[in-house]
Amino acid sequence: MSQGFTPLCKTSEVAENTLIQVDLPDHPPIAVYNLGGEYFATSGYCTHADAALCDGYLEDDKIECPWHAAKFDIRSGKALTFPATVDLDVYPVKIEGDQVLADLNPTSP
Ligand code: FES
Repeated sequence: MSQGFTPLCKTSEVAENTLIQVDLPDHPPIAVYNLGGEYFATSGYCTHADAALCDGYLEDDKIECPWHAAKFDIRSGKALTFPATVDLDVYPVKIEGDQVLADLNPTSP
């Protein structure tokens, strides 16, 4: 396994152009996205009031919160619309075999 990367799920668990929530024992939930075969990982909960983003609406590379319709850029985590003003955390992802892994403690750029 790659050092610093945590297995999240199998690639086959995330259908193309959908997302799932992954619950880990010692980390807040993660949202894992499959955008046209490319995988991404962000915080699993909206930064406004903690709605589960896996219940939200995927629009290209944006996720819309199911509660108050804030939108976030999945690639950057950027909060694009109110009422969310705080960006999502974004985790670097890599694929090894059929596993999706993410670095949950990325160092700042
Ligand atoms: S909880 Fe997501 S916009 Fe309010």
